[in-house]
Amino acid sequence: MNYRAVCFLAAALLMAAAPVSSAEDAGTPFMTNVYGRDYQFLNGKWNAIVDLYDQGEKMKVYENRTPQTGEEFYEYSFEGGLRLNVPGDWNSQTPELKYYEGTVWYARHFDADPQPGQRQFLYFGAVSYRCKVYLNGEQITEHEGGFTPFEVELTGKLRSGDNFLVVQVNNRRTQDAIPALAYDWWNYGGITRDVMLVTTPEQYVRDYFVRLDGNDAGSVKVSLELARPQAADVTVDIPELKVSKTVRTDEDGRAEFGVKVKGLELWEPGKAKLYDVTVSCGDDSVSDRIGFRYLETEGTGILVNGKRTFMRSISFHEEIPQRKGRAFSQADAQMLLSEAEALGVNMIRLAHYPQNEYIVRLAEQMGIILWQEIPIWQGIDFEDKGTESKALGMLEEMIFRDRNRCAVCFWGVANETKPSDARNAFLLSLLEKGRSMDDTRLYVAAFDLVYFNEETRHFEMDDPFTENLDVVAVNKYMGWYHPWPVPPSEAVWDVVPDKPLIISEFGGEALYGQHGDRNMASSWSEEYQARLYEDNIEMFRHIPNLAGVSPWILFDFRSPYRFHPTNQEDWNRKGLVSDQGYRKAAWYIMRDYYKEIKNSDK
Ligand code: GCU
Repeated sequence: MNYRAVCFLAAALLMAAAPVSSAEDAGTPFMTNVYGRDYQFLNGKWNAIVDLYDQGEKMKVYENRTPQTGEEFYEYSFEGGLRLNVPGDWNSQTPELKYYEGTVWYARHFDADPQPGQRQFLYFGAVSYRCKVYLNGEQITEHEGGFTPFEVELTGKLRSGDNFLVVQVNNRRTQDAIPALAYDWWNYGGITRDVMLVTTPEQYVRDYFVRLDGNDAGSVKVSLELARPQAADVTVDIPELKVSKTVRTDEDGRAEFGVKVKGLELWEPGKAKLYDVTVSCGDDSVSDRIGFRYLETEGTGILVNGKRTFMRSISFHEEIPQRKGRAFSQADAQMLLSEAEALGVNMIRLAHYPQNEYIVRLAEQMGIILWQEIPIWQGIDFEDKGTESKALGMLEEMIFRDRNRCAVCFWGVANETKPSDARNAFLLSLLEKGRSMDDTRLYVAAFDLVYFNEETRHFEMDDPFTENLDVVAVNKYMGWYHPWPVPPSEAVWDVVPDKPLIISEFGGEALYGQHGDRNMASSWSEEYQARLYEDNIEMFRHIPNLAGVSPWILFDFRSPYRFHPTNQEDWNRKGLVSDQGYRKAAWYIMRDYYKEIKNSDK
């Protein structure tokens, strides 16, 4: 065989072995609805090395070498040392890591049995904050962003039998990160959500988006994309609606079409109607539970399925306070959501970042509306083009993961940003990107710019950027960071009067079980917090375009901001519920207000 033929054959073999990276699979960051596919968890105890001075990459610890001769030695080993639970943050797993910000190397073995004609992918629900992934000693991907999924194709790289997986995780805060250097929640690091090994056929349904066609409850719209560019038959089944529609994709593997339906029951708060939907192509089929509803604003109202709906909301961080750690499981989602439901909410603002899929899917099953946002929180460097592309990536990953989740009704693009040309341009690019991916939801941002105008004696806000939003939200801490300039009953708001306005944060701190003067903020007493809630509720009654409120916050949560040695101890105490799960007096005031609203909403 001549030299040229040998090269050709070698190249052909390499091409056959070289995996088609999932990035070449359509233009999507990861496959839609991984939980509806053929997967195995790689959760459990992983071995770990704490690498405070970032030496591990230079030492190539990911090669996991062991001495083979009398002269060899290695100053690391993944065996016999620290072991960490995955999923989970590392800060809550050992006292030494409570404040740790730096690199931790995670490693584990796993067995695989890759079959010809099948493809394998590694999927991470989230890793906080940045990471590099190595398989059998080779780097295979990297990702930045602590709250959205990513995947990498392993086809052609997996060994039959034992494989060694290493993830270098780093949670150091940087000015060009999102969130950036200082933010009011704990900087948890780690592999904080599920890790899965996913198997698909050679050609599979990589993406679908199934929703109502506009405001027409008689027409379902389907957009889908196959992994490989190919004209092929794809079938969408919705048995309960007697829908089974087969269409042929174009040469790029894409299709978009409408399906007429009869008797569709709409999803709405408190009535969580979901339909079994299966999308299949050849050997592949992926199943989901999908709800149908439509949203719009009308003047100062937010309408769900054409019905004006006041948002009785609450916020929570993705944290189990009793465990002092990130929430990551179905059981964690049940704890958080059942406490929110007990308050009488119809909405949750998932602060301040996309939260795990268990929380999103359970809220959908419970009939609770969600506001999800990317962590554009205060001090973001809006001049930095690199930061902008990161933000666009996070927004794309958030929308791409959850656009089939009918509970999600709001996409939030920012929290408490200061007006500037750079900020406006940055946020406009986010809105354009979002609306190009999903024009079925309402876009919102939270501002902390409302001030009391001594001349007009009104509460006002001057930020023209609000014109670009469907709904405007305001964080305002009357009675906590801001003393009352007028009695609550005389508070007149003149803030975006022609748009729906949500008070997306209000509240104050109280240490559960601490009692004191209801007129003294520094008492950190339940009585003061309760009085603060009474005053804010009184003010709400006089805001003409109020479309919803969301107290800050359901649970006390961990924050290095909060130094007071007896009232805080690294906890932000604005929770209506303590870090031990006990309801404070203000909880009952909010519960009664929501009961009143719900009854008047009928
Ligand atoms: C801000 C911010 C929250 C923060 C809160 C507080 O408005 O959005 O993330 O925790 O105020 O000061 O408690």
